[in-house]
Amino acid sequence: MKKVFRFGVIGCGLMGREFASAAARWLHLADTRARPEIVAVCDTNAALLDWFKDNVPSVRQFTSDYKELLANPDVDAVYCAVPHVLHKQFYVDILKAGKHLLGEKPFGMDAAQNREIMAVLAENPKLLVRCSSEMPFFPGAQKVIALAESGEMGDILEVEAGFLHSSDIDRQKPINWKRMADINGDYGCMGDLGMHVLHVPLRLGWRPQTLHAQLVKKIIERPDGKGGMVPCTTWDNATISSRVQTKDQDFPMVLKTWRIAPGEANTWYIRILGMKKSAFFTTKAPRQWQWMDYTGGAQAWSTEDLGYGSLFPAITGKIFEFGFADAIQQMWAAFVDELAGGNANGFACATPEEARAHHAVLTAALKSGRENIVVPVDYEGVSTR
Ligand SMILES: NC(=O)c1ccc[n+]([C@@H]2O[C@H](COP(=O)([O-])OP(=O)(O)OC[C@H]3O[C@@H](n4cnc5c(N)ncnc54)[C@H](O)[C@@H]3O)[C@@H](O)[C@H]2O)c1
Repeated sequence: MKKVFRFGVIGCGLMGREFASAAARWLHLADTRARPEIVAVCDTNAALLDWFKDNVPSVRQFTSDYKELLANPDVDAVYCAVPHVLHKQFYVDILKAGKHLLGEKPFGMDAAQNREIMAVLAENPKLLVRCSSEMPFFPGAQKVIALAESGEMGDILEVEAGFLHSSDIDRQKPINWKRMADINGDYGCMGDLGMHVLHVPLRLGWRPQTLHAQLVKKIIERPDGKGGMVPCTTWDNATISSRVQTKDQDFPMVLKTWRIAPGEANTWYIRILGMKKSAFFTTKAPRQWQWMDYTGGAQAWSTEDLGYGSLFPAITGKIFEFGFADAIQQMWAAFVDELAGGNANGFACATPEEARAHHAVLTAALKSGRENIVVPVDYEGVSTR
């Protein structure tokens, strides 16, 4: 019998329901030591609680008060997917209630709020706490990571990682909380997309030491959905140009978090260029990865169709496509595997230390972009490895 971990979901919007979908088709995974069961849900929007009533029969508690969910002794672990301004209070209370946590990024609206979460986490070291970031679970991304970890790429010339959206190009798109700095945070697009682009570099030990950021603001107001216009206060695009120095490497790294990238729907990518080997993966070509092996002869990129070669084996044949919902489920498999004492098949979800390091980068980028200066990144002596 598989061990069952009973979950509460706080925030049943876009991401809360993605988890429900991943948990509902857990039989998709061929070999897992445990499974999640959603037993309690919380949202202030009653229609979303109704969605869970209609679709998730295992749920026994429906509440608009997250403290009621935290008082439920049947809840072992919580997935919390609420607007950024609520992260600090909710995550702190979840940890104080003794529940394991998969939190959403940016894991605190800013560095100060992240520090408060980390302080409570330090008092509760037995809890498993991770930060959501699913894109590195694409098989092609795993191939790029494995090649980088092999040490075979030689001197790194440059790394570029990005997450590109485009729907904000539409000036008529109504406002939502992700475009309001008081709810989303001053990082703007970096707070939404920064953890996605930094997860892999930080996992590989590539921390920007200094950086310069270009912050772009093109849309200053949006329809409020009621016939009027309201201020749109978050940064649209950020391009961070940084310098990474490790024991044996010194290279530039470019990080792009763009909400207005014409033509890009949800493109996550990473390109690593090395003197011996190079590698590239983009969700635009989700079944493939590309690499180049330079041994002195021709400089030719190779492309391999990977299909469904997932970190956690699934019932889907390897020839079929892997997509976003699969990446979400693989991330959940990694979290649940760690809950059950496993090692997440060698690739754990983003750690709180990585989330903290990403705050250090975004804080420096905000200062750099506002003042147009090069800024050193202050990791406050904390290591990610
Ligand atoms: N991992 C990813 O790919 C990804 C994608 C999108 C968003 N996110 C993150 O997920 C989090 C939520 O984003 P979303 O897109 O799901 O937003 P959303 O607006 O769709 O959902 C947030 C939910 O929180 C609920 N909520 C608000 N206040 C509440 C309260 N006091 N108590 C209980 N519920 C409350 C809202 O009613 C809403 O249903 C954010 O941190 C965001 O950055 C992650």
